[in-house]
Amino acid sequence: MPSIKIFVGTMYGGALDVAEQVAPLFEQVGYEVSIIEQPTLDDLDPLPDLALFCVSTTGSGDFPGNFVPFARDLRESPPALNQCRYGLIALGDSSYGETFCGAGRALDALLEDLGAQRLGERLEIDAMETFMADDAAIPWVESWIDEQGLQAT
Ligand SMILES: Cc1cc2nc3c(=O)[nH]c(=O)nc-3n(C[C@H](O)[C@H](O)[C@H](O)COP(=O)(O)O)c2cc1C
Repeated sequence: MPSIKIFVGTMYGGALDVAEQVAPLFEQVGYEVSIIEQPTLDDLDPLPDLALFCVSTTGSGDFPGNFVPFARDLRESPPALNQCRYGLIALGDSSYGETFCGAGRALDALLEDLGAQRLGERLEIDAMETFMADDAAIPWVESWIDEQGLQAT
């Protein structure tokens, strides 16, 4: 059974809620899903078949507290991620201006630097426009699954 790990970075639970809501969509196409609430580099070894990052932004473009050690270790002890294929859902609020989805964008750049390959475009969910993040995330994941040709087994 192929595997997907959903890495969560959250302050108030919105990104975790997104992870929990989209997990069944992957299960329906035959993936074994793990939701990682306290990510560490060990969660990338061995690499899952797919990774999905659901990460909100706090402070002024900063990573949520539970995600800080993981992001720091990615920078300081960079693993080779050439075989890593991932999707990225960033949660933010455009009223924060230039730091909108800053953590998700920084993570995306970091993963690209480490050789990982993003599948599809990054989804950015703006709390100013979308009251329930799931309303944006579920259709995006459905399309993502279709585009990547993930098939029911
Ligand atoms: C103290 C604080 C700081 C925030 N800073 C930013 C920011 O710099 N950029 C941004 O896009 N959103 C920012 N946000 C908005 C959150 O990212 C947004 O509300 C998100 O949906 C929260 O997701 P979570 O429930 O997973 O933590 C901030 C929210 C709070 C409460």
